[in-house]
Formats: sequence, C-alpha cells, structure tokens
Amino acid sequence: MFKGVLFDLDGVITDTAEYHYQAWKALAADIGITIDRAFNEQLKGVSRDDSLERILVHGGRADDFSAAERSELATKKNDHYLQLIANVSPQDVYPGILDLLKALKTHDIRISLASASKNGPFLLKQMALTSYFDAIADPAKVAHGKPAPDIYQLAAQEVALAPAECIGIEDAIAGIEAIKASGALPVGVGSPVDLGTDIALVPDTKSLTFAFLEQVWQNH
Ligand code: G6P
Ligand code: MG
Repeated sequence: MFKGVLFDLDGVITDTAEYHYQAWKALAADIGITIDRAFNEQLKGVSRDDSLERILVHGGRADDFSAAERSELATKKNDHYLQLIANVSPQDVYPGILDLLKALKTHDIRISLASASKNGPFLLKQMALTSYFDAIADPAKVAHGKPAPDIYQLAAQEVALAPAECIGIEDAIAGIEAIKASGALPVGVGSPVDLGTDIALVPDTKSLTFAFLEQVWQNH
C-alpha cells in the first residue's frame, strides 16, 4: 500500500492553472507575444522564471530583456495573478478533492504538497486546506524545477518517505515527468493527448477517489 500522496496544486486542487494562463497571456501580449492554450500546456507546472523564458523563446524575444527586465516582467505577471486569486475560497476546491484528503487522513496516508508555486501556502490557506497537509515542499529550496524530480523528492522527504512509497498527482506533462523521474507512481488528471498513454489517468478530479488510488497502486 502507498504511504503518501504528493499533490500538485494548480489544476489539481483548484482551477488556478487557468489564472496562471490568463496572467501569462496578458503579460505576453504586453510585449507583443501571442500565446494560446496549446502552447500553455508547455507552461503548466513550470516555474515562474522558466515559464517566462519559454514565452520569450516562443515569441523570438529571448535576447531582448536583461535579467532586471525579466525580473520586472515576472513580478508584473505575479502581481496580476495575485489579483486573480485574491478571492479564492473553500468553494473553489475541485470536486472530490476534499473527500480524497479526508479519506487519506482516515487511512493514515501522509499528504505533501509538491507545487512549483510560491503562492501554494497562500492558496491552501484561502481554501481552508492547510491542516490536511503534513508538509509543503518549498519550491525555493530546490535546484531544478519540473520536469526535474527535485520538488517531488523534497515533498516525499518532508514526510519522511521515499518517493517509491508515494503516489504523485499532476495535471501537467512537466509534472508527470517529474513524478516519473522521482520514482513515485504518477496519476494524471487530464487527457492522454496531453499526459500520455502510459500512466493512470482520470478525466477530472471527481474520479480521484481513494478506491481508485488503491487500485492504481495494486496494479503497478
Ligand atoms: C505551478 C503552475 C505554474 C506556475 C508555477 C510557479 O507549477 O502550474 O503555472 O508557473 O507553479 O508558480 P508561482 O505562483 O510561484 O508563480
Ligand atoms: Mg498543475
């Protein structure tokens, strides 16, 4: 039986992946770059600085901004994002997530956050979910962002488990790759087109039940 679940946040626990997209789209437009939802799949799960880099490369403007200007752009995006998430509340928790967290607690499964977002602690607080988490891995402490395994390794370590004892849950291809590289068992929320055909998938969080995770673990 698995001993821990390592959760991504944006797009798994709540719909903040959409707010990241809106904020990046507006920022990109400010500097003459157009991004669409297909391109956004490559930003999901990716750190703030790495996301900006990908957008600049996409727009052919990777050489146009100094480090200080990049930092300003990243701050501008985050300020906009903070406005968009200011009113996130317990009502915004995706269907099935609260029941899953409760079931995991009942079964003494450790719960750890493996989000790349520096806004993770704020969002958990806004959704009244902080008390369910035994640990929140701090993305500022890891050398490499997703798709590198670092944040999943840290999330497991923070609850005194090996990644191989854990399930990781993700909505982004970068995150699935990070889970695989860490040695944890991936469960994807999304489509096979975006996340691959070689892992357990649910179309949405309603299907993310404790029984489903048990079944995925038994079959791996
Ligand atoms: C998550 C999101 C990404 C975001 C990253 C950093 O991984 O999926 O879209 O870029 O966190 O978030 P932050 O809130 O620190 O800018
Ligand atoms: Mg995500």
